[in-house]
Amino acid sequence: MDTNTEKRYFLDALRLFYETQWLHNIPVTEILTQGCLDSIPREWMDHLQVLQNDELNNFVVEKMTKSEWPDSLKAYVNHCKVTDRLSSTLTLPSAELPQNFRIGLSRKKQHEIMHLARLVHVQCKPYNIQTIIDLGAGLGYVCQMLHHLYGYQVLGLERKEENVNRACTKQRTAYPESLTHVRYIHCDVTCDSADRIESILQREFPNTTAACLIGLHACGDLSTSASRIFRRMKSAKLLILISCCYHKLSISDSVRTPSQEKQYFRNFPMSNCLREVIATHSFDVGQFLRVPFLRLACQESVDKWRGMSGEKHDEHSFHVLARAVLELYSQQNNLILRKKVRKGTRKSQCMDFQTYVKDSLLRYDLMPKSDMDLTGDVITRDELERDISRVWEKQNERLRAVEIYTGLQMMLQLPAESLVLQDRLCWLHEQGLEAMIVPVMNKRLSPRSHAIVSHKR
Ligand SMILES: C[S@@+](CC[C@H](N)C(=O)[O-])C[C@H]1O[C@@H](n2cnc3c(N)ncnc32)[C@H](O)[C@@H]1O
Repeated sequence: MDTNTEKRYFLDALRLFYETQWLHNIPVTEILTQGCLDSIPREWMDHLQVLQNDELNNFVVEKMTKSEWPDSLKAYVNHCKVTDRLSSTLTLPSAELPQNFRIGLSRKKQHEIMHLARLVHVQCKPYNIQTIIDLGAGLGYVCQMLHHLYGYQVLGLERKEENVNRACTKQRTAYPESLTHVRYIHCDVTCDSADRIESILQREFPNTTAACLIGLHACGDLSTSASRIFRRMKSAKLLILISCCYHKLSISDSVRTPSQEKQYFRNFPMSNCLREVIATHSFDVGQFLRVPFLRLACQESVDKWRGMSGEKHDEHSFHVLARAVLELYSQQNNLILRKKVRKGTRKSQCMDFQTYVKDSLLRYDLMPKSDMDLTGDVITRDELERDISRVWEKQNERLRAVEIYTGLQMMLQLPAESLVLQDRLCWLHEQGLEAMIVPVMNKRLSPRSHAIVSHKR
């Protein structure tokens, strides 16, 4: 690892995310209340709003710029390009799950299982590793596949008891021959679990001296715990990790300020290198690398916009703006929106604001922020619908701006994910471990497409 190169990369990335907080540091529902659309530089808008649909797609996906565009916009595009270390293209061999393992699994899930299993095998074979420990095994799909295809003995650790029971039930009925080779154990994995996992391993598979730790979509702290366990656990020789849900990382400290809540995470940043750069340049990351940033880092990739139709764009911008109008109306009237049912809005409400409002009022309660805001006036549903529609009428010319804002934001997804993964990679290097980031999946099918692979000598 060249520390100076890494420091320069981190500094560059921090500058990018510091300067573009208006794009990533605000939940999408608040783009009107926080004036995000007004933050798009006027000179950028002049050029971006005249683009045809396919030109806008190409700008966002391929980062294609035009010579007459302002330097600040070209600089933004370039900054995104150099901060993105994940946009490698990958030609994948076709991979289908065996027929009796496919039942009930989406194409995406099948793709992920097969390609992760293949990577695990490619990595384990040279070291003659025959035991896998799957952290956050879920329903045990990868465990079963690793045994079925390659004959590994697999320990699946999972914190949800219900998942363990379901995995065991399925195993007994569908794959009984694997019962002694694939073991599912209830275990809440934390950064201090190395000894516990070692003892479970020795109990289930006595005399194992070399194992590979894996995680497919290891969410939140599970990923960072996996790296720490890997460093400490003697028999763990390989680590293969595909993370997800970065925004579920635990918060160690939060500070309320008049404008926002500063959020500091326990496991991000993780590496000394990134921490040092932050300290040297006095960045307050609690202010701009918050949950919305981590949420962006684990969203769908910009590839989603490749060839996206005008209708799809219209649908998307309508939904974003309509929801933001509800938020704006609530804020203007000292109300808060509370979901009545789990899902806030339905796709079927598309494109017609009257229907959208009617439907939304069935799904949300509009509550006074505090008792002080109770006016005593009773407002009928018809009046409410009419008042919200008035706000819509003032805002609905901004649909195009919503799509441009979204495109500019999507250009930050891979850079954001790169920063998170580079920090984790750097931490492994700092522990004296060999480690690299490897593309594994087709990004369009499975957005969390890269694995961290680390090897202990
Ligand atoms: C996104 S799911 C992925 C499941 C599985 N790896 C797969 O790809 O099908 C993440 C799983 O990790 C489990 N999990 C999360 N944190 C955990 C922890 N600290 N210890 C053990 N399991 C955990 C969750 O219960 C969930 O089943």
